Amino acid sequence: MKYIFSSTVAVALLAFSVNSNAANDVSGQFASQFNVARTLASQYEQEAMKHDKNAKLSAEAGRAFYTKKVLVGGKEMSCSACHTNDPTKEGKHVDTGKPIKPVAISANPDSFSDVKKVEKNFSTHCRDLYRKDCAALDKGNFLTYMLSVK
Ligand code: HEC
Repeated sequence: MKYIFSSTVAVALLAFSVNSNAANDVSGQFASQFNVARTLASQYEQEAMKHDKNAKLSAEAGRAFYTKKVLVGGKEMSCSACHTNDPTKEGKHVDTGKPIKPVAISANPDSFSDVKKVEKNFSTHCRDLYRKDCAALDKGNFLTYMLSVK
């Protein structure tokens, strides 16, 4: 089981490293976060490629998705409304005012370290804004952006 898991991850990482320009100097406490984020991004890219074989993840598209404004109950909302325009900064929940730790990996040693937590937060927040889960390409782009911001 362990072997199957690690080889799947290795293949996923390899696939991602071939077609991405994400930073490669992964070390120390951030290593596992980078691995989780990259592995997930790679899986989302594979999923997106089922719909469009030329699908390619982009940090720029991720930033556009992150700041894209949508109307929710007459109010302008975006991922950045809670997570702030600069994901390396502490966010603030628009409804409760509670502080939110930065989402950018470079600024938060806990972000993207747990696959289940990432997927759960994606589903919840995508439903909040779009009434449905986000497309695999959007999630992959979002992760690529979060991997890239310093
Ligand atoms: C209404 C406020 C709000 C909005 C809008 C929002 N988020 Fe979040 N998000 C949060 C909070 C609060 C947390 C921290 C949850 C925790 O620590 O358990 C979080 C955490 C996350 C995480 C987990 C990161 C980690 O630590 O692993 C992801 C991924 C995420 N959000 C994605 C998004 C995306 C994508 C959007 C836009 C579609 C979005 N969020 C919009 C409040 C928000």
